[in-house]
This record gives sequence, C-alpha cells and structure tokens, in this order.
Amino acid sequence: MCARGHAFDLARRGYVNLLQPQDRKSREPGDARAAVEARAELLAAGVGRAVVDELVRRVTAMHLPPRAVVLDLGSGTGDALGALAGAGSITGIGIDLSTAAAEHAARRFPDLTWVVANADRRLPIVDRSADVVLSLHGRRNPAECARVLKAGGRLVLAVPAPGDLVELRELVQGARVERDRVDAVLASHAPSFCLQERAMVRESHRLEHRELVALLRATYRGARASAATRVESLTTLEVTFASDVLVLALAAPDERA
Ligand SMILES: C[S@@+](CC[C@H](N)C(=O)[O-])C[C@H]1O[C@@H](n2cnc3c(N)ncnc32)[C@H](O)[C@@H]1O
Repeated sequence: MCARGHAFDLARRGYVNLLQPQDRKSREPGDARAAVEARAELLAAGVGRAVVDELVRRVTAMHLPPRAVVLDLGSGTGDALGALAGAGSITGIGIDLSTAAAEHAARRFPDLTWVVANADRRLPIVDRSADVVLSLHGRRNPAECARVLKAGGRLVLAVPAPGDLVELRELVQGARVERDRVDAVLASHAPSFCLQERAMVRESHRLEHRELVALLRATYRGARASAATRVESLTTLEVTFASDVLVLALAAPDERA
C-alpha cells in the first residue's frame, strides 16, 4: 500500500511493477537480462564482491534496530541487499528500472521487496521511513533520499574509483582515463548531507575469456560490436575493480537550507 492509499499486486514473479509510461525511454528500460545475468555470474565467482562486503561491514557497524528499513537504488541482481539481510534483520526494498533485475533479485531473495520503478523520480516510499539508503554503482537522487530518510538516517554510496575497470576501458575506449567522482558527488548532496566516512575498496582479478565477455556485457550497454571484437581476441586480462565508498549523514532540517 502506498502513502496515497493505492494497493499494488505482486507480479507473479515476486516483484511490484510501479513503472509509469513516462519512465520508459525504451521497450526494455534499465539493464537488459543478459547484463543482469552476466553481473550475477561474476559476483557469484567473487568478482566485484569486495564492495558488497565493505557495504555490509559499514551498515552492520551502524547497529540498526531489527527490521530497519534499507532501500537500495538501482539494486540490480539484489546481491547487496541480500548480503545485508543475511547479516542481520532488515526490511530490504530494492528499486530498479529493469524488470529483468527485479525478477532475478526476487527469485534469489524472495523475503525482500523488489520494486520496478524509476529511482530518478519520486521514490515510492513515504517520508522519513528509511533508516539507510544505498546506491552501489546505482542511482543517486539526493532530494528524494533526504525526503525518505528518517532523522539520523544514512546514505551509503559506492561510486567507481579512478582505477575502476581501467584495463577494460583502455581496451574498449582506447584511452586510460581515470576520473575521480567523489567531489562532484559530495557537492550534489550538499547541504542536505554531510560526509561521515570514506573508504576506497580495490580488488584485482586475472579474468579468463569467458569472464571478460561477461564483464563487457555487464558493463557496456549492448557491448558494442567494436568492443566485443577486441575482447574476442583476448584469452586473459588482469582487471582492477575499485570503488569509493561514502557514508553520508542526513543533516538536521535547519542545516539544509
Ligand atoms: C551498474 S548497475 C549496479 C547494480 C547493483 N547496484 C550492483 O552494484 O551490482 C546499475 C543498475 O541501475 C539500474 N538503473 C538504471 N537506471 C535506473 C533508474 N533510473 N532507476 C532505477 N534503476 C536504474 C540498472 O537497471 C542496473 O540494475
């Protein structure tokens, strides 16, 4: 039931679809099924897992009350919320634009709530109801996060760090560009949020051909033909996975002006 009293049925596949016609820019919005499955395959093999573990560590250290509401924007395969639920009692709500992602997450973690919605718009969550909002390489919506978080709530963000996937990007884009996003992310969240904790998580894997193909699918929309051709000729590549993890605290209302 939403704040305005509307009731929604769970789709037979275990998620709620709240997507409005204006939220769709394509027939299959958000990540395609192939991208979701490729990311799930890599995570199951431990590739890209360090940032999920870091997130679980940071949220566990907050000592949230039982059944605390944790919202994940751009929840993808559901691994982050699933891991948090495995570490303690939470009411987990994942929001993703992709029905393939919601379906995948609902199959793996049926006790959590999975919603298909556009996290760039008004979130389908009542004011001041969430203890924590997560965005793990996902969507960021500072105004809506400030609205839905309880007083004292935390926003936990993971954004690609400069070295993230640099070897793959060099291969695909032909340039070794290393972009630091942290200052821009903090600026877009001020003055509603202030930085509490910051960490960098890094892991490196020598990936075999099959995993490189999966990584390309999971990372680059539609894995452009030129990129696929370059990866096709590779048997192995050492790839860095790096994220900046930021824990932000919601400022008191009089500090948000
Ligand atoms: C890079 S993936 C990250 C997924 C997951 N958080 C993880 O770290 O494995 C980004 C996710 O955001 C979703 N997404 C893209 N645009 C969105 C939007 N406007 N609202 C909600 N989800 C969106 C995609 O479908 C995809 O699952």
